[in-house]
Amino acid sequence: MLNTFWNIFVIVLTLASIAGCWWLLQWTKGISNREGEETGTTGHVWDEDLVELNNPLPRWWLYLFHLTIVFSLVYFVLYPSLGNLGGTLGWTQEGQYAEEMAAAGEAQQDIFSRFAGATPQALVADAEAMGIGRRLFGNNCAMCHGSDGAGGPGFPDLTDKDWLYGGDHQSIVTTLENGRNGMMPALGDALGEQGVREVTAFVMSLSANGQDEALVNAGSQKYGMFCAACHGPDAGGNQALGAPRLSDDIWLYGGSEEIIAQTLVQGRAGLMPAFSESLSAEQIRILAAYVQSLSQP
Ligand code: HEC
Ligand code: HEC
Repeated sequence: MLNTFWNIFVIVLTLASIAGCWWLLQWTKGISNREGEETGTTGHVWDEDLVELNNPLPRWWLYLFHLTIVFSLVYFVLYPSLGNLGGTLGWTQEGQYAEEMAAAGEAQQDIFSRFAGATPQALVADAEAMGIGRRLFGNNCAMCHGSDGAGGPGFPDLTDKDWLYGGDHQSIVTTLENGRNGMMPALGDALGEQGVREVTAFVMSLSANGQDEALVNAGSQKYGMFCAACHGPDAGGNQALGAPRLSDDIWLYGGSEEIIAQTLVQGRAGLMPAFSESLSAEQIRILAAYVQSLSQP
């Protein structure tokens, strides 16, 4: 809604420009035939005898101009165009938007009701459901997990069979509905510089050979004290906390010495947003099935 000043300003400006157009038409008619001349001229003369004629506009052309003026006046009455005045048809942008949303909602209802009772396996096998899943994934998930779901540093790969929070249908639905927030504490102060070096060597030794044995042994002890509670005594991870398995050479942030040390010193807090507000329960079920399908051959 415009305030009073702008409301009046817009109304006056709109009507004045229409009136201006009409005046312009009358004015050009007036000058097109100067008195005493067969054919009007603009009065401009070049090279002594080259004059610029000023013939009246063709009739049909003039009528077109008048028609546009009439059209706009009728439009002003029917549709909201003069400041805050609504048109007599009662049309509003918001109204049209709401109507279209309602129609789209109904159309969706029809599509999704077909999948209401379907099991996750049936959804995975249903080409139409997976097509919907792919589109939903492209619109809502691809910016973080990649359009193929393979992720990137900090964003888990959804196409492997390694899950932070569990890869069964219900766990994925829970992930999508509520979001997830992995909390790896910063342990740089607790471990000290040497401690970080030792534990890093130990973590690397779980999936690769060639670490310094003395460092690995010392790191193994510290692992038991500082890490086992979350990552498990055998480093197999903990899906209740989203603590990754450290022994499989699959990395969320990266498995190089530098990046592991950085994880230990700074901590990590991966955030998966919740979608229960923006997606319907049916959409989430289809998406969860789609995510499962990504890691099935
Ligand atoms: C803003 C970025 C972002 C968006 C958008 C996003 N995710 Fe995530 N997602 C993450 C992060 C980060 C994690 C890991 C959370 C953690 O580190 O604890 C994650 C975790 C997951 C997991 C758990 C993986 C596992 O191994 O257990 C699934 C499943 C998942 N996302 C699916 C989706 C789907 C489906 C969508 C779209 C509806 C989506 N995500 C949208 C960032 C995002
Ligand atoms: C309070 C529980 C907790 C403790 C204690 C903890 N971690 Fe973590 N750690 C996590 C969680 C949760 C994540 C995942 C963070 C995320 O999703 O952003 C993680 C992530 C990591 C990663 C990244 C893995 C990857 O794939 O990139 C490494 C490495 C790691 N932790 C090693 C350790 C080590 C070594 C210790 C002990 C010094 C330790 N963590 C202690 C919970 C913990």
